Amino acid sequence: MSSLTITPAGPLKGTIAVPGDKSITHRAIILSALAEGDSVISSYCRGEDCLNTMRALQAMGIQIEERPEQLRVRGKGFWGLAEPAQPLDCGNSGTGIRLLTGLLAGQDFFAILTGDESIRRRPMGRVVKPLRDMGATIAGRKGGELAPLAITGSRLRGLAYTSPVASAQVKSSLLLAGLYAEGTTRVSEPRKSRDHTERLFRYFGIPVQGDASSVSIQGRPSVGWTGKPVVVPGDLSAAAFFIVGASLVPDSDVTITSVGINQTRTGILDILTEMGANIQIFNRREEAGEPVADLRIRSAQLRAVQIGAERIPQTIDEFPILCVAASLAEGTTTITDAGELRVKESDRIATMAAELKKMGASAEETKNGLIIQGLGKRKTRQLRGTTCTSYGDHRIAMAMAMAGLMAEGQTRIQDTDCIETSFPGFESKLLELLTKNN
Ligand code: S3P
Repeated sequence: MSSLTITPAGPLKGTIAVPGDKSITHRAIILSALAEGDSVISSYCRGEDCLNTMRALQAMGIQIEERPEQLRVRGKGFWGLAEPAQPLDCGNSGTGIRLLTGLLAGQDFFAILTGDESIRRRPMGRVVKPLRDMGATIAGRKGGELAPLAITGSRLRGLAYTSPVASAQVKSSLLLAGLYAEGTTRVSEPRKSRDHTERLFRYFGIPVQGDASSVSIQGRPSVGWTGKPVVVPGDLSAAAFFIVGASLVPDSDVTITSVGINQTRTGILDILTEMGANIQIFNRREEAGEPVADLRIRSAQLRAVQIGAERIPQTIDEFPILCVAASLAEGTTTITDAGELRVKESDRIATMAAELKKMGASAEETKNGLIIQGLGKRKTRQLRGTTCTSYGDHRIAMAMAMAGLMAEGQTRIQDTDCIETSFPGFESKLLELLTKNN
């Protein structure tokens, strides 16, 4: 089991790119596998989560060539997938397993989906139940609540489904199943979740109707779609660690190029700006139907902020690093209605409260959120260096690494292999920014 040791060394300076967006990479692999002909996916996320989705499609007969910066996917058309001979291992990826469950529900073969110990603890009923209502045949542990899931491809019918949670994984799973269903599938959610599936559907020419909180598609399209190049924007959720790091460490000045700024994801930018962060967004453009820009971040004193239900979906993956920002801000930050954080790669409310406290911050768990009393006036080394654990959660590992930059003494984060799930090369990017000024 590997670990990461952070020794605070001064400001972060320089220009970096971050890995391709994880959410978009999963979707690009799936939709190009179902296209007729080749698609080249550039700047894709090479994290283990996406590689597991790639391997699952390869196990279903899709040829995918892996190059350092590109994937070439040889799509076999709408009905081109073949029965996998073995269980498909989604590793640590909730997106991978939930999207593939929807995709496989309407095929004409049998498949088993499983994953690591964390995935086998996470709720699958949120996709299994509505998929069963569409006619899917899915068995799993605890009545289908937990993976492994065994899916016998079935004839599906469209469904109008109102999801109790704002979840892009649920929405996307049902839309992928809906492609193979008879009639219309409509998904409504309490608040709009990330819309990468809808955007990529449209980019490939698959019609999707929708408004702020509901989307629908017509199943069994009479014509399929052809392969296309997809340029994946940099992952804002990966950039977030350096955005917060550069905001916190005095005298930092960091530029991050080609970052996705889809509005269903930019809660972190809005919240940090409200906290007083100095973030400049420039060079705005569009790639494969997604807005992209360069970001420049200079350090600033941050203030506390109140975050409630309406801002959770567009910030959902950034709470670990936001908690670090809050712990060093002036004033008390309150996060409410964030119960979804308890069912991520770890229970992120419990894990962040525990790890920040170890470093001398004041972070209290509430039922569905956190209360964090910031340490106030900005200076380096406000936290206490210590040994932290990641709980096998990549975002906890990276958040605590950034906290380590603001600590007195060394911070050792244990169990950091998980960083590979989304951000291969995280440590070298951090070193790059730390050495630019020495
Ligand atoms: C994702 C959706 C979100 C997010 C996850 C990626 C996606 O999960 O937390 O990291 O790619 O659809 P939920 O749908 O559970 O909110």
